[in-house]
Amino acid sequence: MGKMGFSLVLALFLVTIGASSERKCILTGDWKNDLGSNMTISAVNEAGQFSGLYLTAVSATEKPIVESPLTGSQHVDNLEQPTFGFTVKWSFSDSTTVFVGQCFMDDQGKETLQTMWLLRVKAKSMGDNWNATMVGTNVFTRKLEEQNLGESVRSDL
Ligand code: BTN
Repeated sequence: MGKMGFSLVLALFLVTIGASSERKCILTGDWKNDLGSNMTISAVNEAGQFSGLYLTAVSATEKPIVESPLTGSQHVDNLEQPTFGFTVKWSFSDSTTVFVGQCFMDDQGKETLQTMWLLRVKAKSMGDNWNATMVGTNVFTRKLEEQNLGESVRSDL
């Protein structure tokens, strides 16, 4: 292979690496959803496991809302638009919510978490089991401060 051929292969390799690293989606950070709820996800480990805190903006109960712990995992074998799941064990109620979703990244590098959730409230008895589970969707975006930081870091590259 001549000098020219080698340079071409190298350039192609670098472009591919650059493009794929920009599209990586790791859930660590601060997120806000369409209801105004906030969540913070701590570092994701090699296995894809993470923990965090969830502050919901709404509740099915009358109880005062407090921040609640979450644990989950994301795929780390391929970080391009990975799927994930997490559970929130509500600190102020007897309920539990599970979320599943996928992280999407647009051409500008903006990440969106498209999720579906099941919220299980505690039924008084088995007879009330039939209406104890709610289902819905939430869309999360990175909180503004983080997005701006990400954009300025990217433009420095
Ligand atoms: C409860 O009401 O017992 C706990 C709070 C549930 C909040 C739900 S979970 C799904 C949906 N998405 C949110 O951000 N908040 C609500």
